[in-house]
Amino acid sequence: MPKLFEPLALRGVTLKNRIVVSPMCQYSAQDGFANDWHLVHLGSRAVGGAGLIIQEATAVSPEGRISPEDLGIWKDEQVPMLRRINDFITAQGSVPGVQLAHAGRKASTYSPFTGSGEVPAAEGGWPVVGPSAEAFTDNYPQPEALDAAGIQKVITDFRSAAQRALAAGFQVIELHGAHGYLLHEFLSPLSNHRTDEYGGTFENRARLLLEVVAATREVWPEDLPLIVRISATDWTEGGWNADESVQLAALLKTRGVDLIDVSTGGNVPKAPIPVGPGYQVQFAERIKAEAGIRTGAVGLITTPIDAEAILANGQADLVLLAREFLREPYFPLFAAHDLGVEVEWPAQYERAKPRIASAAGQR
Ligand SMILES: Cc1cc2nc3c(=O)[nH]c(=O)nc-3n(C[C@H](O)[C@H](O)[C@H](O)COP(=O)(O)O)c2cc1C
Repeated sequence: MPKLFEPLALRGVTLKNRIVVSPMCQYSAQDGFANDWHLVHLGSRAVGGAGLIIQEATAVSPEGRISPEDLGIWKDEQVPMLRRINDFITAQGSVPGVQLAHAGRKASTYSPFTGSGEVPAAEGGWPVVGPSAEAFTDNYPQPEALDAAGIQKVITDFRSAAQRALAAGFQVIELHGAHGYLLHEFLSPLSNHRTDEYGGTFENRARLLLEVVAATREVWPEDLPLIVRISATDWTEGGWNADESVQLAALLKTRGVDLIDVSTGGNVPKAPIPVGPGYQVQFAERIKAEAGIRTGAVGLITTPIDAEAILANGQADLVLLAREFLREPYFPLFAAHDLGVEVEWPAQYERAKPRIASAAGQR
């Protein structure tokens, strides 16, 4: 049995395979509310056989949105549509997860469909916050440094969002600690220049993330898994690095985190990132080996054979695919076929299930 189709139990939740839909902003919400687009987008990938579907960065507060069109989970009224989507995903045998997020100093920006950089107040933009009063780039908003009360609000917002996530039927929470958004901004010495207990040493820079994890775990049931996505490196001298990521992952393991989703970058504009097939897998491998925690690998994983090799080599426990899932919502069904594994197709599609062995990759 290929590893890709071995079930994985995380606490009380069993994923039917190791293939995960990586969180992907759709920039299609209004006032944070999910709609038919999200139902069909996420639902299609559940029909396509993914083991776990992590809904896009979903803001824990309105000011934590990347763009005005981001999904949100900051008010109870946003829950019922999410519940409907999750009920559908669950009925397909897939597990619904949500990425809870706060964009920090990278908030209030145009979606890629509408522009780039800061959305001004006149067009619906809002004041943004960060660890320090330093903008990401010249065309991003100038943030205000969070004070103690602001930090407490962030923690409370994540806790309330986790409660709503439960009400919405999500079975996995992923905290977004990557890509230069708020939690990553606190981790990295390149964006965090605070002199209080949230800045300076590794312990201080990691404090906010650890407090958010603790607040989330307070309300998130024991039998449901908690994942944290990190950027394992800023790919920049003097920035957050792989050694600190290993140290952080070991700490997170003791605080009730079950798996680290290992991405990189996003906190430094124009960082020299050696993008190529599987370019981030090395970090998932290192964290898994050295921190002794399960990991997910992501980044330019596009073929069943490569995905299988990552798992078979013991480099990660899950593989997350983003863009390949936009090209091919049925990736897991075809991967099963290519790897010679018998999986159930939705009864409605049964008549189209490939029955004759073909060369790998051939459809
Ligand atoms: C359209 C799009 C939206 C994305 N939105 C998010 C997001 O909401 N949260 C996140 O952590 N990463 C986001 N990403 C990054 C992906 O989850 C993934 O880490 C990255 O695309 C690399 O994987 P890939 O090579 O399989 O696309 C997004 C990527 C794409 C293409």
